[in-house]
Amino acid sequence: MKIIFIFICFIYVCLCSNYLIKKPIVSSYLPAISSGGDVSFYGEFEHYKNITITIGNEFCKVQYNNKYQIICFIGTLNNNKRYDVNLVTNNKSWYAKNYYTPYVNGSTCINGNSLSCINCFEGWVGENCDQLKPLNISSVPDVSHFGGYFYANGFFGLNPEALIVYIGSNKANITFDSYDIIGGKILPGEGYHDINIYNKINNQLIFTGRDMFYYNPKLCLNNCLENGWCNNGTCSCYKHWYGNDCSKYNYSITINRNFPQNI
Ligand SMILES: *[C@@H]1O[C@H](CO)[C@@H](O)[C@H](O)[C@H]1NC(C)=O
Ligand SMILES: *[C@@H]1O[C@H](CO)[C@@H](O)[C@H](O)[C@H]1NC(C)=O
Ligand SMILES: *[C@@H]1O[C@H](CO)[C@@H](O)[C@H](O)[C@H]1NC(C)=O
Ligand SMILES: *[C@@H]1O[C@H](CO)[C@@H](O)[C@H](O)[C@H]1NC(C)=O
Ligand SMILES: *[C@@H]1O[C@H](CO)[C@@H](O)[C@H](O)[C@H]1NC(C)=O
Ligand SMILES: *[C@@H]1O[C@H](CO)[C@@H](O)[C@H](O)[C@H]1NC(C)=O
Ligand SMILES: *[C@@H]1O[C@H](CO)[C@@H](O)[C@H](O)[C@H]1NC(C)=O
Repeated sequence: MKIIFIFICFIYVCLCSNYLIKKPIVSSYLPAISSGGDVSFYGEFEHYKNITITIGNEFCKVQYNNKYQIICFIGTLNNNKRYDVNLVTNNKSWYAKNYYTPYVNGSTCINGNSLSCINCFEGWVGENCDQLKPLNISSVPDVSHFGGYFYANGFFGLNPEALIVYIGSNKANITFDSYDIIGGKILPGEGYHDINIYNKINNQLIFTGRDMFYYNPKLCLNNCLENGWCNNGTCSCYKHWYGNDCSKYNYSITINRNFPQNI
């Protein structure tokens, strides 16, 4: 029994985990000038420990990276030429044909295609693509008056890891963040509250959403985690499930005492 279990784990780790690794996603870049220099790639690089980047036929040597940004050094490329980009992290690749063009010194379009300014890269706006898109929340689903998990949709900038979120005077525990969604856990409360977002690095307030957060008394804690139904703020848990948010399972009830014990 044990051996079979270990074997299944082995198969899982060797084969399946490979499929669970997310592909890297590039959403924008900041080019180097044609004589070479640092290039920044922005996006989502969940498994970012082993990175190989090629621009055209040149390797771009990684200098710095986190979950959302990779900076690499590229040598000389031609102006007015478009290069394919291939970015590989842990054997998963992101590839785009004719994606990269060097920054043309003097060009007004810094954070968009440097040859035209039609499409700014993700996170940049303005006629010259030279203004950072302001952080903004577009929607926040109501949360139970018991608090628990919440999330907000919007735009959270190119470094969402660096944000601190307050709901009223309570700090939220952020458990996931990306450029378009942020979420975590919050304490219980009542009524409407402002959402204030600060930059962890300099404690600067960068966004206030007046009365954007609502503790809805009709909603249940964590929506009963789908292990029950919500009745006017209180969970009625499905069979064997219990707890405020139906998060606990009563295992003792499932033991079949007539089941042979000696296998
Ligand atoms: C890193 O990736 C390369 C190929 O992209 C691979 O040959 C190498 O084994 C990887 N190293 C680690 C530590 O995963
Ligand atoms: C990467 O993928 C190639 C072929 O797709 C495979 O031969 C190689 O063993 C893989 N390397 C790693 C480190 O998974
Ligand atoms: C860009 O051009 C300006 C003059 O037009 C020059 O002063 C500057 O050094 C150049 N920058 C680079 C990185 O070549
Ligand atoms: C922020 O999002 C709201 C709701 O989607 C929208 O009405 C508002 O114009 C946005 N503000 C900015 C500065 O983008
Ligand atoms: C946030 O995390 C801290 C420390 O782990 C914990 O004491 C606090 O209760 C958490 N708050 C919420 C709302 O989960
Ligand atoms: C829901 O619960 C609140 C108090 O928690 C109560 O005032 C209200 O009457 C209840 N509504 C219904 C439809 O049961
Ligand atoms: C779990 O089930 C057993 C057997 O029916 C019962 O005696 C016990 O009270 C239950 N525990 C909880 C926490 O519901």
